[in-house]
Amino acid sequence: MMRLCMFLVVIATFSDADIYLHNPRGSNDRLNEQSAARTNANRVFDSQVRNSVLLEALYDTAADDETGQYRMKYFQSGSAVNEGTGESHLTIEWTNQHGCGGSEDDDPHKTNCHLVLQYMCQDDVSSATGNDDTLRNGKDTDSQEHTPIDDELDESKNDKTNRKDGDVSSDKVIQEQWEWYDKCYNRERNKGLFTADQNLKDNDNGYSSAIYTRQNPNGNRYGYECPEERDHYPYWHPSPWRDISVLVQETTLCSYFQEESFNVKERYECVEYYNAQRTQAKHWSRWNNEKDCLDNNGDWLGFVNYLEKAPDYTSEEECQSHTGSGQRYIWARPYGSIAKECLVALEMPECKQSPWTRDNHLGNDRDGYASNYTWVLPHFPSQKDKRCVFRIRYNISTDDYDPYNTNSSHNHNPQEGVISPVVNNPAVDIGAANVPLRLAINTAQYGRIFQDRTHVFKLTPRPAGIDTKKIYNLNVRGKRGNIVQVYPAVEYDFVPNRLTIEDGDLVHIQWTGSNTHNNGNPGGDGQTGDDGQGTTGTDRNNFVQMNQALENYPLPYENTTLWSSVKVVWIYHEESNVAAKDLAVNMASAGYYRCMKSSICNQHSVETKDALNKLLNNAPASYEGALLEFTKGTYHYMCTRNNDFTNRSQKGYIKVV
Ligand SMILES: *[C@@H]1O[C@H](CO)[C@@H](O)[C@H](O)[C@H]1NC(C)=O
Ligand SMILES: *[C@@H]1O[C@H](CO)[C@@H](O)[C@H](O)[C@H]1NC(C)=O
Ligand SMILES: *[C@@H]1O[C@H](CO)[C@@H](O)[C@H](O)[C@H]1NC(C)=O
Ligand SMILES: *[C@@H]1O[C@H](CO)[C@@H](O)[C@H](O)[C@H]1NC(C)=O
Ligand SMILES: *[C@@H]1O[C@H](CO)[C@@H](O)[C@H](O)[C@H]1NC(C)=O
Repeated sequence: MMRLCMFLVVIATFSDADIYLHNPRGSNDRLNEQSAARTNANRVFDSQVRNSVLLEALYDTAADDETGQYRMKYFQSGSAVNEGTGESHLTIEWTNQHGCGGSEDDDPHKTNCHLVLQYMCQDDVSSATGNDDTLRNGKDTDSQEHTPIDDELDESKNDKTNRKDGDVSSDKVIQEQWEWYDKCYNRERNKGLFTADQNLKDNDNGYSSAIYTRQNPNGNRYGYECPEERDHYPYWHPSPWRDISVLVQETTLCSYFQEESFNVKERYECVEYYNAQRTQAKHWSRWNNEKDCLDNNGDWLGFVNYLEKAPDYTSEEECQSHTGSGQRYIWARPYGSIAKECLVALEMPECKQSPWTRDNHLGNDRDGYASNYTWVLPHFPSQKDKRCVFRIRYNISTDDYDPYNTNSSHNHNPQEGVISPVVNNPAVDIGAANVPLRLAINTAQYGRIFQDRTHVFKLTPRPAGIDTKKIYNLNVRGKRGNIVQVYPAVEYDFVPNRLTIEDGDLVHIQWTGSNTHNNGNPGGDGQTGDDGQGTTGTDRNNFVQMNQALENYPLPYENTTLWSSVKVVWIYHEESNVAAKDLAVNMASAGYYRCMKSSICNQHSVETKDALNKLLNNAPASYEGALLEFTKGTYHYMCTRNNDFTNRSQKGYIKVV
């Protein structure tokens, strides 16, 4: 019953205004639903996007087994990335509905906006050995549970462990950890914030905490996301997210965002303890400021954000002496523990103007490119595999009040004579007495944040010998269906589909798809159906060379130039002796065949394997691909199954200069 009520509230407060992440694929809280509508909008984060939308389903290889899900795998940057060599580029693509970009003077827009791009990572482990905190997609669409601490606000360390173990299920998604939400549930909310005429509720302990915000006044829970942190950036307490970039309307805000980023600015939190010796820290405290914290026997401690820990350097001197070799090391207190240790430091996020997009339209920017940002992937000095999640938030506001100078002193309080600068559905005077007109204003959505996130992906160390090479990721966006059925996702295409690189640069070709998403009922207010070639409900892609973009036939192998001119730097399988034709067949068959001859790849060869289905039905949905070094020339390519002239174009080119 509880869940049903929450669900209804959610539907009632959503209007359609959105951000959708297309590369890497955004989940918008979907997992492995076969339906057009997603099952649980509260699964892991608050997107504030309509409940019944068509978005990318979970890319999976093996039905709904978590360990069988394909995780995109991007090579980390090389060790000298901070000096500008050995970058790994991942093209982030999205659509946002209300426009962004354009300067106030010569190119005004109808909203103020900025986009915040962030990620979180942890060491990779096999799903079988994971624990309550392991980043994962889960295998069912339910949210994790949360049981509040009892109202005495007192529990032993053991009780805390039991409470957590009782809540966290290994079958369900984890992005933020249980402690993060529990901390948020228990910490008083920032009472200096502007909440207009919204009535923010109290938690079970009898006070209003950080789970209640102007945008979430009822304290609905979305996975283990903290609503106060979700709604605000830069956030004033430590958080598990690392900043990549802020894309702003006006670059005058850049120095503010960069200097206030948790990447470079220490953030404080109240720490209380389980024991009198003050050695066992609790993960939560009610107090959100220094005075209340000290008055209640807590320690007000500063925490720093970091790329990863460097546990090999056990003293401050040793830690700092490693700075210089492309990375900065700092001896500091990391989020999540109270002892100082050696950490790999983060740099300021990049800040620049957002691509220009138009209002009421999920489309491209002015230059005809999808809104994009090139994420230069981090280099982890430990050279460990990492599990990560990426998040993009789209923040829009208006000039109806000044968001940076409006605070709790402007909250609606008619008894005290305070009228909020914005109120719900106000009636306005148009000059005719007693004939007011009503404006459509929802103060919970005035100054509003939309969000999308990826599923879990991997950042993996590079193969040996290519530390200084530039790597470009070449992937596939969109899902199966015609233009109406896929909306607001997009039809299949390569990303980036126009790529200009230099002689000697590397390209990692890789894609992921679903085997089960038939976009069936329920469809909500989207449209069900999954028109396309091949078995219904399946995504397939491949990569074959063609002569030029105006054609729709690939080149016969004998006429191709690509395969004989590229060098295979890395490929997903163990057979090392990959000839040009082996590679061509591998990419054309989406990895169904590894090579031509059984003497090279045994049972995976064209010689020994059953014939490939001509629509790739028996090929895998996801493909780990290969890292290829290109030489000068222009190479056009296409996907044979999905490219469908007049219905869909899935073609691209790589120009090597
Ligand atoms: C969104 O912008 C408002 C200002 O309009 C700011 O107060 C808030 O912290 C921002 N939140 C995020 C997540 O960017
Ligand atoms: C991203 O958009 C910009 C501006 O439209 C464009 O110049 C650039 O080529 C795009 N990048 C990619 C990788 O598509
Ligand atoms: C609220 O903002 C006003 C300026 O508009 C400022 O003078 C006041 O100190 C602020 N109050 C709080 C509680 O931050
Ligand atoms: C392939 O190359 C042969 C020999 O040069 C040529 O005759 C033929 O037209 C080419 N075919 C295509 C499709 O380009
Ligand atoms: C395009 O798709 C429609 C169905 O959506 C189909 O009837 C038509 O045959 C397709 N066109 C081609 C060239 O396959």
